[in-house]
Amino acid sequence: MRIQKTLENLRSRLQEHGQSHLLRFWEHLDEGQKQALLEQIQRLDLPKIDQWVADSMAEAPHASMRADFSPAPFYSARPSGTEWRSKYAEAVKLGRKTISAGKVAAFVVAGGQGTRLGLDGPKGDFPISPVKNRTLFQIFADAIRATCQEYQAVCPWYVMTSPLNYSRTVEVFRSSDYYGLDPGNVFIFQQGTLPNFSSQGRILLADKANIVCSPDGHGGSLKALHQSGSLKDMKKRGVEFLSYWQVDNPLINIFDPLFIGLHILDRAEMSSKAVRKAGPGEKVGNFCLIDGKITVIEYSDLPDKLAQKRQADGSLVFQLGSIGIHIINRTFVEKLNTRDFSLPLHRAVKAIPRIDEQGNLVESDGIKLESFVFDAIPMASRSMILETLRSEEFAPTKNTTGVDSVETTRRMMVARAAAWLESAGVAVPRKPDGSVDCLIEIAPSFALDKEDIKAKRDQIPRIRPGETVYLA
Ligand code: UTP
Repeated sequence: MRIQKTLENLRSRLQEHGQSHLLRFWEHLDEGQKQALLEQIQRLDLPKIDQWVADSMAEAPHASMRADFSPAPFYSARPSGTEWRSKYAEAVKLGRKTISAGKVAAFVVAGGQGTRLGLDGPKGDFPISPVKNRTLFQIFADAIRATCQEYQAVCPWYVMTSPLNYSRTVEVFRSSDYYGLDPGNVFIFQQGTLPNFSSQGRILLADKANIVCSPDGHGGSLKALHQSGSLKDMKKRGVEFLSYWQVDNPLINIFDPLFIGLHILDRAEMSSKAVRKAGPGEKVGNFCLIDGKITVIEYSDLPDKLAQKRQADGSLVFQLGSIGIHIINRTFVEKLNTRDFSLPLHRAVKAIPRIDEQGNLVESDGIKLESFVFDAIPMASRSMILETLRSEEFAPTKNTTGVDSVETTRRMMVARAAAWLESAGVAVPRKPDGSVDCLIEIAPSFALDKEDIKAKRDQIPRIRPGETVYLA
Protein backbone atom coordinates (compact mmCIF):
# COMPACT_ATOMS: atom_id res chain seq x y z
CA MET A 1 0.00 0.00 0.00
CA ARG A 2 2.77 2.39 1.05
CA ILE A 3 4.86 1.53 -1.99
CA GLN A 4 1.76 2.13 -4.16
CA LYS A 5 1.32 5.61 -2.72
CA THR A 6 5.02 6.43 -3.14
CA LEU A 7 4.82 5.16 -6.69
CA GLU A 8 1.86 7.39 -7.55
CA ASN A 9 3.63 10.41 -6.13
CA LEU A 10 6.76 9.61 -8.05
CA ARG A 11 4.88 9.02 -11.28
CA SER A 12 3.38 12.46 -11.19
CA ARG A 13 6.67 14.10 -10.22
CA LEU A 14 8.52 12.30 -12.99
CA GLN A 15 5.87 13.33 -15.47
CA GLU A 16 6.17 16.94 -14.38
CA HIS A 17 9.92 16.79 -15.07
CA GLY A 18 9.76 14.84 -18.34
CA GLN A 19 11.34 11.69 -16.88
CA SER A 20 8.37 9.31 -16.63
CA HIS A 21 10.12 6.74 -18.86
CA LEU A 22 12.13 5.69 -15.80
CA LEU A 23 9.12 3.62 -14.71
CA ARG A 24 8.44 2.15 -18.15
CA PHE A 25 9.44 -1.38 -17.12
CA TRP A 26 7.92 -1.26 -13.64
CA GLU A 27 5.53 -4.15 -14.25
CA HIS A 28 8.43 -6.43 -15.23
CA LEU A 29 10.43 -5.90 -12.03
CA ASP A 30 10.48 -8.13 -8.95
CA GLU A 31 9.94 -6.61 -5.51
CA GLY A 32 13.65 -6.10 -4.79
CA GLN A 33 14.22 -4.37 -8.12
CA LYS A 34 11.18 -2.14 -7.58
CA GLN A 35 12.50 -1.04 -4.22
CA ALA A 36 15.98 -0.39 -5.64
CA LEU A 37 14.60 1.68 -8.52
CA LEU A 38 12.33 3.70 -6.21
CA GLU A 39 15.29 4.54 -4.01
CA GLN A 40 17.36 5.69 -6.99
CA ILE A 41 14.54 7.89 -8.25
CA GLN A 42 13.92 9.34 -4.81
CA ARG A 43 17.56 10.39 -4.60
CA LEU A 44 17.27 12.44 -7.81
CA ASP A 45 16.99 16.17 -7.31
CA LEU A 46 14.54 16.68 -10.18
CA PRO A 47 14.35 20.51 -10.17
CA LYS A 48 18.15 20.66 -10.17
CA ILE A 49 18.24 18.12 -12.98
CA ASP A 50 15.87 20.31 -15.03
CA GLN A 51 18.36 23.12 -14.58
CA TRP A 52 21.36 20.98 -15.58
CA VAL A 53 19.53 19.76 -18.64
CA ALA A 54 18.57 23.30 -19.65
CA ASP A 55 22.16 24.50 -19.11
CA SER A 56 23.85 21.65 -20.89
CA MET A 57 21.48 21.70 -23.85
CA ALA A 58 21.81 25.44 -24.35
CA GLU A 59 25.20 26.77 -25.38
CA ALA A 60 25.80 28.87 -22.27
CA PRO A 61 27.97 31.96 -22.77
CA HIS A 62 31.49 31.05 -21.69
CA ALA A 63 33.52 33.06 -19.24
CA SER A 64 36.08 33.37 -22.01
CA MET A 65 33.66 35.38 -24.11
CA ARG A 66 34.02 38.22 -21.65
CA ALA A 67 36.27 41.04 -22.69
CA ASP A 68 37.91 41.63 -19.33
CA PHE A 69 40.24 38.75 -18.94
CA SER A 70 43.97 38.46 -19.20
CA PRO A 71 46.74 35.93 -18.58
CA ALA A 72 47.26 34.99 -14.93
CA PRO A 73 50.43 36.01 -13.05
CA PHE A 74 52.70 33.21 -11.86
CA TYR A 75 55.92 32.31 -10.12
CA SER A 76 58.54 31.10 -12.61
CA ALA A 77 59.98 27.64 -12.39
CA ARG A 78 63.39 29.23 -11.95
CA PRO A 79 63.69 32.40 -9.88
CA SER A 80 65.86 35.12 -11.34
CA GLY A 81 67.50 37.83 -9.25
CA THR A 82 68.48 37.85 -5.59
CA GLU A 83 65.11 38.96 -4.29
CA TRP A 84 63.24 36.09 -5.93
CA ARG A 85 65.91 33.58 -5.02
CA SER A 86 65.67 34.53 -1.39
CA LYS A 87 61.85 34.34 -1.46
CA TYR A 88 62.06 30.83 -2.95
CA ALA A 89 64.64 29.81 -0.34
CA GLU A 90 62.41 31.12 2.44
CA ALA A 91 59.44 29.23 0.92
CA VAL A 92 61.39 25.96 0.79
CA LYS A 93 62.34 26.36 4.45
CA LEU A 94 58.75 27.05 5.44
CA GLY A 95 57.46 24.19 3.28
CA ARG A 96 59.87 21.74 4.90
CA LYS A 97 58.87 22.90 8.36
CA THR A 98 55.19 22.46 7.49
CA ILE A 99 55.70 18.92 6.17
CA SER A 100 57.76 17.99 9.24
CA ALA A 101 54.95 19.22 11.46
CA GLY A 102 52.57 16.71 9.79
CA LYS A 103 50.42 19.51 8.41
CA VAL A 104 50.35 18.28 4.80
CA ALA A 105 48.29 15.33 3.55
CA ALA A 106 48.53 13.58 0.20
CA PHE A 107 45.25 13.61 -1.73
CA VAL A 108 44.89 11.71 -4.99
CA VAL A 109 41.73 11.71 -7.08
CA ALA A 110 41.31 8.21 -8.45
CA GLY A 111 37.61 8.02 -9.19
CA GLY A 112 37.84 8.32 -12.98
CA GLN A 113 36.75 5.52 -15.26
CA GLY A 114 39.90 5.41 -17.39
CA THR A 115 37.81 4.75 -20.48
CA ARG A 116 40.53 5.91 -22.85
CA LEU A 117 42.91 3.34 -21.35
CA GLY A 118 40.16 0.75 -21.72
CA LEU A 119 40.49 -0.21 -18.06
CA ASP A 120 38.25 -2.39 -16.04
CA GLY A 121 39.85 -1.94 -12.61
CA PRO A 122 41.18 1.17 -10.86
CA LYS A 123 43.62 3.27 -12.90
CA GLY A 124 45.94 3.42 -9.88
CA ASP A 125 46.56 -0.30 -10.29
CA PHE A 126 47.93 0.21 -13.78
CA PRO A 127 51.56 -1.01 -14.08
CA ILE A 128 53.51 1.92 -15.44
CA SER A 129 57.12 2.03 -14.30
CA PRO A 130 59.62 1.37 -17.10
CA VAL A 131 61.76 -1.34 -15.49
CA LYS A 132 59.82 -3.00 -12.68
CA ASN A 133 56.31 -2.42 -14.01
CA ARG A 134 55.31 -0.96 -10.68
CA THR A 135 51.78 0.41 -10.47
CA LEU A 136 50.82 4.05 -10.04
CA PHE A 137 49.59 3.41 -6.48
CA GLN A 138 52.86 1.63 -5.66
CA ILE A 139 54.93 4.58 -6.89
CA PHE A 140 52.88 7.10 -4.87
CA ALA A 141 53.00 4.92 -1.76
CA ASP A 142 56.79 4.64 -2.05
CA ALA A 143 57.08 8.42 -2.34
CA ILE A 144 54.85 8.93 0.69
CA ARG A 145 56.84 6.41 2.73
CA ALA A 146 60.12 8.02 1.70
CA THR A 147 58.77 11.46 2.66
CA CYS A 148 57.64 10.20 6.09
CA GLN A 149 61.14 8.87 6.61
CA GLU A 150 62.94 11.97 5.40
CA TYR A 151 60.83 14.34 7.50
CA GLN A 152 60.24 11.96 10.41
CA ALA A 153 56.57 12.85 10.10
CA VAL A 154 53.23 11.19 9.52
CA CYS A 155 51.97 12.01 6.02
CA PRO A 156 48.41 10.68 5.72
CA TRP A 157 47.09 9.68 2.31
CA TYR A 158 43.49 10.30 1.19
CA VAL A 159 42.41 8.37 -1.90
CA MET A 160 39.18 9.36 -3.62
CA THR A 161 37.47 6.62 -5.61
CA SER A 162 34.05 6.45 -7.17
CA PRO A 163 31.26 4.08 -6.09
CA LEU A 164 32.15 2.15 -9.26
CA ASN A 165 35.76 1.42 -8.34
CA TYR A 166 35.73 1.73 -4.53
CA SER A 167 35.67 -2.00 -3.66
CA ARG A 168 38.28 -2.86 -6.26
CA THR A 169 40.54 -0.07 -4.98
CA VAL A 170 40.20 -1.20 -1.37
CA GLU A 171 40.92 -4.75 -2.51
CA VAL A 172 44.05 -3.65 -4.39
CA PHE A 173 45.35 -1.81 -1.32
CA ARG A 174 44.57 -4.75 0.99
CA SER A 175 46.10 -7.38 -1.24
CA SER A 176 49.25 -5.24 -1.56
CA ASP A 177 49.41 -4.83 2.20
CA TYR A 178 48.88 -1.10 1.75
CA TYR A 179 52.22 -0.99 -0.06
CA GLY A 180 53.99 -1.02 3.28
CA LEU A 181 52.13 2.03 4.62
CA ASP A 182 50.28 2.02 7.92
CA PRO A 183 46.61 1.35 6.92
CA GLY A 184 45.63 3.70 9.74
CA ASN A 185 47.12 6.55 7.71
CA VAL A 186 45.38 5.68 4.44
CA PHE A 187 41.81 6.86 4.00
CA ILE A 188 39.95 5.53 0.93
CA PHE A 189 36.57 7.10 0.23
CA GLN A 190 33.93 7.55 -2.47
CA GLN A 191 32.80 10.52 -4.50
CA GLY A 192 29.25 11.11 -5.69
CA THR A 193 27.64 10.22 -9.00
CA LEU A 194 25.36 11.95 -11.47
CA PRO A 195 22.84 10.40 -13.86
CA ASN A 196 23.64 10.22 -17.57
CA PHE A 197 21.30 11.72 -20.16
CA SER A 198 20.18 11.28 -23.73
CA SER A 199 20.71 14.25 -26.02
CA GLN A 200 17.09 15.21 -25.27
CA GLY A 201 17.83 15.40 -21.55
CA ARG A 202 16.16 12.15 -20.58
CA ILE A 203 17.84 10.15 -17.83
CA LEU A 204 19.21 6.86 -19.22
CA LEU A 205 18.49 3.41 -17.82
CA ALA A 206 21.33 0.87 -17.51
CA ASP A 207 18.75 -1.92 -17.32
CA LYS A 208 15.08 -2.11 -16.39
CA ALA A 209 15.75 -1.36 -12.74
CA ASN A 210 18.83 0.88 -12.70
CA ILE A 211 19.68 4.40 -13.77
CA VAL A 212 22.99 4.94 -15.59
CA CYS A 213 25.24 6.95 -13.27
CA SER A 214 28.84 8.04 -13.57
CA PRO A 215 31.24 9.74 -11.14
CA ASP A 216 30.58 13.47 -10.71
CA GLY A 217 34.04 14.59 -11.85
CA HIS A 218 37.17 15.48 -9.87
CA GLY A 219 35.32 18.60 -8.69
CA GLY A 220 33.14 16.18 -6.72
CA SER A 221 36.14 15.73 -4.43
CA LEU A 222 35.39 18.96 -2.60
CA LYS A 223 32.01 17.67 -1.40
CA ALA A 224 33.21 14.09 -0.98
CA LEU A 225 36.01 15.20 1.37
CA HIS A 226 33.31 16.57 3.64
CA GLN A 227 30.70 13.84 3.24
CA SER A 228 33.20 11.01 3.74
CA GLY A 229 34.47 12.44 7.03
CA SER A 230 37.94 13.01 5.54
CA LEU A 231 37.96 16.68 6.56
CA LYS A 232 37.13 15.75 10.14
CA ASP A 233 39.88 13.17 10.13
CA MET A 234 42.34 15.75 8.80
CA LYS A 235 41.35 18.25 11.45
CA LYS A 236 41.84 15.68 14.19
CA ARG A 237 45.33 14.97 12.87
CA GLY A 238 46.26 18.64 12.54
CA VAL A 239 46.41 18.50 8.72
CA GLU A 240 46.07 22.00 7.25
CA PHE A 241 47.02 21.50 3.60
CA LEU A 242 46.02 18.96 0.97
CA SER A 243 48.45 18.16 -1.78
CA TYR A 244 46.06 17.28 -4.62
CA TRP A 245 47.02 15.35 -7.76
CA GLN A 246 45.55 13.08 -10.41
CA VAL A 247 46.14 9.36 -10.30
CA ASP A 248 47.46 9.11 -13.84
CA ASN A 249 50.57 11.27 -13.30
CA PRO A 250 53.49 9.21 -11.91
CA LEU A 251 55.90 12.18 -12.10
CA ILE A 252 54.04 14.05 -9.34
CA ASN A 253 56.20 15.60 -6.62
CA ILE A 254 53.65 15.07 -3.85
CA PHE A 255 55.39 16.93 -1.05
CA ASP A 256 57.05 19.90 -2.73
CA PRO A 257 58.38 22.29 -0.05
CA LEU A 258 58.68 25.18 -2.54
CA PHE A 259 55.05 24.92 -3.68
CA ILE A 260 53.75 24.50 -0.14
CA GLY A 261 55.92 27.34 1.15
CA LEU A 262 54.94 29.83 -1.56
CA HIS A 263 51.28 28.94 -1.03
CA ILE A 264 51.61 29.73 2.68
CA LEU A 265 53.67 32.90 2.18
CA ASP A 266 51.01 34.17 -0.23
CA ARG A 267 48.24 33.30 2.26
CA ALA A 268 46.51 31.44 -0.56
CA GLU A 269 43.54 29.12 -0.11
CA MET A 270 43.94 27.12 -3.31
CA SER A 271 47.06 27.18 -5.48
CA SER A 272 48.06 25.49 -8.69
CA LYS A 273 51.07 24.25 -10.58
CA ALA A 274 51.18 24.97 -14.29
CA VAL A 275 53.33 24.11 -17.28
CA ARG A 276 54.02 26.16 -20.40
CA LYS A 277 51.73 24.81 -23.08
CA ALA A 278 53.33 22.72 -25.82
CA GLY A 279 51.46 24.83 -28.41
CA PRO A 280 48.36 27.01 -28.79
CA GLY A 281 46.10 24.00 -29.33
CA GLU A 282 47.26 21.81 -26.46
CA LYS A 283 44.26 20.28 -24.72
CA VAL A 284 44.82 21.66 -21.23
CA GLY A 285 42.94 24.35 -19.31
CA ASN A 286 44.33 27.89 -19.58
CA PHE A 287 45.14 29.98 -16.53
CA CYS A 288 43.52 33.41 -16.90
CA LEU A 289 42.71 36.36 -14.68
CA ILE A 290 39.03 37.33 -14.60
CA ASP A 291 37.90 40.18 -12.32
CA GLY A 292 41.17 39.83 -10.46
CA LYS A 293 40.59 36.12 -9.81
CA ILE A 294 42.71 33.30 -11.17
CA THR A 295 40.41 31.15 -13.29
CA VAL A 296 40.95 28.16 -15.55
CA ILE A 297 39.35 28.36 -18.97
CA GLU A 298 38.98 25.05 -20.78
CA TYR A 299 40.91 24.72 -24.04
CA SER A 300 37.65 24.34 -25.94
CA ASP A 301 36.39 27.63 -24.48
CA LEU A 302 39.42 29.80 -25.27
CA PRO A 303 38.74 31.54 -28.59
CA ASP A 304 41.25 30.48 -31.21
CA LYS A 305 42.38 34.08 -31.77
CA LEU A 306 43.40 34.37 -28.13
CA ALA A 307 44.94 30.91 -27.99
CA GLN A 308 47.19 31.86 -30.93
CA LYS A 309 48.08 35.34 -29.64
CA ARG A 310 51.81 35.84 -29.04
CA GLN A 311 53.99 38.25 -27.07
CA ALA A 312 56.84 40.25 -28.62
CA ASP A 313 59.31 37.44 -27.78
CA GLY A 314 57.16 34.91 -29.65
CA SER A 315 55.80 33.14 -26.57
CA LEU A 316 52.06 32.58 -26.20
CA VAL A 317 50.11 35.23 -24.29
CA PHE A 318 48.01 32.50 -22.67
CA GLN A 319 50.94 30.21 -22.08
CA LEU A 320 50.11 28.44 -18.83
CA GLY A 321 48.34 25.10 -18.88
CA SER A 322 46.62 23.50 -15.93
CA ILE A 323 47.98 20.08 -14.89
CA GLY A 324 45.70 19.08 -12.02
CA ILE A 325 48.18 19.78 -9.22
CA HIS A 326 47.02 21.94 -6.32
CA ILE A 327 47.60 22.83 -2.71
CA ILE A 328 44.23 23.29 -1.04
CA ASN A 329 43.63 24.54 2.48
CA ARG A 330 41.54 22.22 4.61
CA THR A 331 39.69 25.23 5.98
CA PHE A 332 38.83 26.38 2.44
CA VAL A 333 37.08 23.06 1.72
CA GLU A 334 35.38 23.23 5.12
CA LYS A 335 34.16 26.74 4.34
CA LEU A 336 32.74 25.69 0.97
CA ASN A 337 30.82 22.91 2.66
CA THR A 338 29.16 25.13 5.23
CA ARG A 339 26.81 26.22 2.44
CA ASP A 340 25.20 24.37 -0.44
CA PHE A 341 27.98 25.29 -2.87
CA SER A 342 28.08 23.87 -6.34
CA LEU A 343 30.61 23.93 -9.14
CA PRO A 344 29.49 24.36 -12.75
CA LEU A 345 28.78 21.14 -14.61
CA HIS A 346 30.61 20.47 -17.87
CA ARG A 347 29.09 18.17 -20.42
CA ALA A 348 30.88 15.41 -22.30
CA VAL A 349 29.38 13.33 -25.06
CA LYS A 350 30.46 9.71 -24.63
CA ALA A 351 29.35 6.25 -25.76
CA ILE A 352 27.14 4.94 -22.97
CA PRO A 353 25.86 1.37 -22.62
CA ARG A 354 22.13 1.50 -21.73
CA ILE A 355 18.75 0.04 -22.68
CA ASP A 356 16.49 1.47 -25.35
CA GLU A 357 12.73 1.95 -25.22
CA GLN A 358 12.14 -1.74 -25.90
CA GLY A 359 14.51 -2.77 -23.14
CA ASN A 360 17.29 -3.93 -25.49
CA LEU A 361 20.88 -3.31 -24.48
CA VAL A 362 22.48 -0.75 -26.80
CA GLU A 363 25.50 1.56 -26.75
CA SER A 364 25.07 5.03 -28.11
CA ASP A 365 26.18 8.58 -27.47
CA GLY A 366 24.82 10.20 -24.37
CA ILE A 367 25.71 13.05 -22.04
CA LYS A 368 27.84 12.80 -18.92
CA LEU A 369 28.04 15.77 -16.59
CA GLU A 370 31.13 16.43 -14.50
CA SER A 371 32.43 19.17 -12.26
CA PHE A 372 36.09 20.19 -12.35
CA VAL A 373 38.11 20.96 -9.25
CA PHE A 374 39.79 23.99 -10.84
CA ASP A 375 36.42 25.76 -10.96
CA ALA A 376 36.83 26.23 -7.21
CA ILE A 377 39.95 28.41 -7.68
CA PRO A 378 38.01 31.68 -8.16
CA MET A 379 36.09 30.89 -4.95
CA ALA A 380 39.33 31.12 -2.98
CA SER A 381 40.10 34.46 -1.35
CA ARG A 382 43.67 34.18 -2.65
CA SER A 383 45.39 31.89 -5.09
CA MET A 384 48.81 31.57 -6.69
CA ILE A 385 50.41 29.67 -9.56
CA LEU A 386 53.84 28.09 -9.64
CA GLU A 387 55.22 27.20 -13.03
CA THR A 388 56.93 23.84 -13.25
CA LEU A 389 58.75 21.94 -15.96
CA ARG A 390 56.70 19.37 -17.81
CA SER A 391 59.69 17.03 -17.99
CA GLU A 392 59.93 17.08 -14.20
CA GLU A 393 56.33 16.76 -13.08
CA PHE A 394 53.72 16.04 -15.69
CA ALA A 395 53.22 12.79 -17.59
CA PRO A 396 49.47 12.17 -17.83
CA THR A 397 48.68 8.57 -18.78
CA LYS A 398 45.42 8.85 -20.67
CA ASN A 399 45.72 6.65 -23.77
CA THR A 400 47.36 3.35 -24.66
CA THR A 401 49.36 4.83 -27.52
CA GLY A 402 50.05 8.25 -29.05
CA VAL A 403 49.77 11.52 -27.14
CA ASP A 404 49.63 11.34 -23.32
CA SER A 405 49.92 7.60 -23.38
CA VAL A 406 51.51 4.73 -21.53
CA GLU A 407 54.36 4.96 -24.06
CA THR A 408 55.03 8.67 -23.56
CA THR A 409 54.77 8.37 -19.78
CA ARG A 410 57.35 5.55 -19.64
CA ARG A 411 59.65 7.51 -21.92
CA MET A 412 59.28 10.58 -19.69
CA MET A 413 60.00 8.54 -16.56
CA VAL A 414 63.25 7.32 -18.11
CA ALA A 415 64.12 10.81 -19.39
CA ARG A 416 63.61 12.38 -15.96
CA ALA A 417 65.68 9.68 -14.27
CA ALA A 418 68.46 10.28 -16.80
CA ALA A 419 68.34 14.04 -16.27
CA TRP A 420 68.53 13.60 -12.48
CA LEU A 421 71.54 11.30 -12.82
CA GLU A 422 73.31 13.64 -15.22
CA SER A 423 72.71 16.60 -12.93
CA ALA A 424 74.64 14.66 -10.29
CA GLY A 425 77.48 14.04 -12.72
CA VAL A 426 76.55 10.43 -13.63
CA ALA A 427 77.17 9.61 -17.30
CA VAL A 428 74.04 8.33 -19.06
CA PRO A 429 74.41 6.69 -22.48
CA ARG A 430 72.53 8.53 -25.20
CA LYS A 431 71.79 7.76 -28.83
CA PRO A 432 72.99 10.11 -31.60
CA ASP A 433 69.55 11.80 -31.58
CA GLY A 434 70.00 12.62 -27.89
CA SER A 435 67.45 10.11 -26.56
CA VAL A 436 68.41 7.92 -23.61
CA ASP A 437 70.08 4.65 -24.63
CA CYS A 438 69.18 2.55 -21.60
CA LEU A 439 66.21 1.85 -19.35
CA ILE A 440 66.41 3.55 -15.97
CA GLU A 441 63.97 3.54 -13.10
CA ILE A 442 64.60 5.39 -9.85
CA ALA A 443 62.41 4.26 -6.97
CA PRO A 444 61.19 7.10 -4.72
CA SER A 445 62.83 5.22 -1.85
CA PHE A 446 66.18 5.89 -3.56
CA ALA A 447 65.57 9.51 -4.52
CA LEU A 448 62.65 11.90 -4.32
CA ASP A 449 64.51 14.56 -6.27
CA LYS A 450 67.84 15.29 -7.89
CA GLU A 451 69.36 16.47 -4.62
CA ASP A 452 68.90 12.95 -3.21
CA ILE A 453 70.79 11.56 -6.21
CA LYS A 454 73.74 13.84 -5.50
CA ALA A 455 73.89 12.50 -1.95
CA LYS A 456 73.90 8.89 -3.23
CA ARG A 457 76.28 9.43 -6.11
CA ASP A 458 78.67 6.70 -4.85
CA GLN A 459 75.99 4.00 -4.89
CA ILE A 460 75.27 4.41 -8.60
CA PRO A 461 76.99 1.90 -10.89
CA ARG A 462 78.41 2.77 -14.30
CA ILE A 463 75.62 2.59 -16.90
CA ARG A 464 76.37 1.00 -20.29
CA PRO A 465 74.39 1.50 -23.50
CA GLY A 466 71.29 -0.69 -23.71
CA GLU A 467 71.45 -1.62 -20.01
CA THR A 468 68.50 -1.81 -17.64
CA VAL A 469 69.08 -0.05 -14.35
CA TYR A 470 66.85 -0.02 -11.29
CA LEU A 471 67.89 2.19 -8.38
CA ALA A 472 66.08 1.39 -5.13
P1 UTP B 1 40.19 12.25 -16.54
O1 UTP B 1 39.41 13.42 -16.89
O2 UTP B 1 41.42 12.02 -17.32
O3 UTP B 1 39.24 10.99 -16.63
O4 UTP B 1 40.52 12.31 -15.02
P2 UTP B 1 39.46 9.45 -16.45
O5 UTP B 1 38.14 8.96 -16.01
O6 UTP B 1 40.61 9.07 -15.60
O7 UTP B 1 39.78 8.92 -17.90
P3 UTP B 1 38.80 8.83 -19.16
O8 UTP B 1 38.42 10.24 -19.50
O9 UTP B 1 37.62 8.00 -18.74
O10 UTP B 1 39.64 8.15 -20.18
C1 UTP B 1 41.53 13.11 -14.49
C2 UTP B 1 41.73 12.71 -13.05
O11 UTP B 1 40.55 12.96 -12.30
C3 UTP B 1 40.11 11.76 -11.68
C4 UTP B 1 40.72 10.63 -12.48
O12 UTP B 1 40.81 9.46 -11.71
C5 UTP B 1 42.06 11.21 -12.85
O13 UTP B 1 42.93 11.14 -11.74
N1 UTP B 1 38.64 11.74 -11.69
C6 UTP B 1 37.98 12.02 -12.83
C7 UTP B 1 37.98 11.44 -10.53
O14 UTP B 1 38.60 11.17 -9.49
N2 UTP B 1 36.63 11.41 -10.56
C8 UTP B 1 35.92 11.69 -11.67
O15 UTP B 1 34.68 11.66 -11.61
C9 UTP B 1 36.61 12.00 -12.84
